[in-house]
Amino acid sequence: MIEELDHIGIAVHSVDEAVTRYVDGLGLRLDSVEVVPTERVRVAVLMAGRTRIELLEPTAPDSPIAKFLEKRGPGVHHLAFRCADTGAQIRVLTERGAPLLDREPRPGAHGTRVAFLHPKFLGGVLAELVEHPA
Ligand code: CO
Repeated sequence: MIEELDHIGIAVHSVDEAVTRYVDGLGLRLDSVEVVPTERVRVAVLMAGRTRIELLEPTAPDSPIAKFLEKRGPGVHHLAFRCADTGAQIRVLTERGAPLLDREPRPGAHGTRVAFLHPKFLGGVLAELVEHPA
């Protein structure tokens, strides 16, 4: 079961440059900056009240974010939905015929377990399932 929107992922060329706009310009709070080696990204977590926004900068040319920037340019990359059990959610969605990009949960930032849903399922919107550690 999907519990809530966990975060919005935004592809940027430079986290440092983008943070100045979101924090100094827009007034959001910077929560953390972290490198996620499995995704080959550097992530800045911003808070808009209780809503989380993640700025994603590629750390390698073969990063999925590098490919996205090349094709589409900077902008909204994915919506992440929180669930209690990513593995169970993958099985439910697979039964419903949804095209998963991950057959098993994989490690995300902050000890999360994540999986991605192909954007063709939601009309061009990439969706992430996120399970937070208990
Ligand atoms: Co995400």
